Order: sequence, then structure tokens, then C-alpha cells
Amino acid sequence: MMNQVPIREDAHAVVAAQWGRRLAVQLGFSLVEQTAISTAILEIARNIAKYAGHGQITLHTLADGACVGIEVIAADSGPGIADIALALQDGYTTGKGLGLGLPGARRLMDSFEIVSQPGAGTTITMRKWRTSTDHRDKPGGL
Ligand SMILES: Nc1ncnc2c1ncn2[C@@H]1O[C@H](COP(=O)(O)OP(=O)(O)O)[C@@H](O)[C@H]1O
Ligand SMILES: [Mg+2]
Repeated sequence: MMNQVPIREDAHAVVAAQWGRRLAVQLGFSLVEQTAISTAILEIARNIAKYAGHGQITLHTLADGACVGIEVIAADSGPGIADIALALQDGYTTGKGLGLGLPGARRLMDSFEIVSQPGAGTTITMRKWRTSTDHRDKPGGL
């Protein structure tokens, strides 16, 4: 599986979100979960294009016993985020956005971690675990 999407512009963010949805479908995630994952990817990938200029989104499949999940790693070498707690507040933006991308993505996923240093870039790791139980008849369902 091609699991890494370079991000330089909004159109690439859309591609990354589509790849995330496709993987979620393959793994038997529900429609609501597919949408949560693709929306979270879209937001953090658009942030890469807007604030860092370029970076990449990497997708991984997680398997822990009977549990199946998706891990998304968004990495860039941009300006970094000086105050991560502030950036995670609803409505905070240094651009002209709504300031809902990071907090929204955090709510949509099960885990969400930001590692960032000013001048050194930003890495966001987020995970979501499949909750549906009627996945055995779906492609890729375990
Ligand atoms: N990859 C990134 N590199 C640098 N700064 C970022 C990055 N992602 C987010 N930020 C900072 O966090 C703020 C909040 O992001 P977000 O919640 O998506 O809101 P918005 O994109 O509408 O500003 C941004 O305004 C920006 O200052
Ligand atoms: Mg944003």
C-alpha cells in the first residue's frame, strides 16, 4: 500500500484525506468513523500546506489483538508551534482560519499528540480504533 502523501498545497490534503478514508473502508471502519478520520487528516494536512509550506502525511494500520486502528503521522519542517496548548484552543488562529482544525481533529480521533519546536517543525500523531462489530463481511474486515 502507498502510505505516504507529500503535502504542498490544499489539493494534496484532499488526496491524503481520500487515502485515509480508503484505508478506513478497507479496515471495516463505520461510515461515521471513515468521515472522522478523513476530516481530521484534511485539517492537519491543510495546516501543513498553509503554515509549513510542505511536509507529509503517513498512514499506518494498527493491530493490537482483536483491535484494529489507523495511525496518522503528519510531519513538517516548518516554523513550529510555540504554544501548543494555545493552538489547541477552539478559535485560536494565527491566520485567517476558524481556529477549529487542531481542536476538531483532536476530538474526532481517539489519541492526538503534537510534538513541535519553534524553527524545527511539527509532528502530529493521531490514532483511531475501529469500534464496529459487524465488519466481518466487509473487505479487509478481521
Ligand atoms: N503544521 C503547523 N505548523 C505551524 N503552525 C501550525 C501548524 N498547524 C497549526 N499551526 C498553528 O496552529 C493554529 C491553529 O490551527 P487550526 O486549529 O488548524 O486553525 P486555523 O488553521 O484555522 O488557524 C494555526 O493558526 C497556526 O498558528
Ligand atoms: Mg487549520
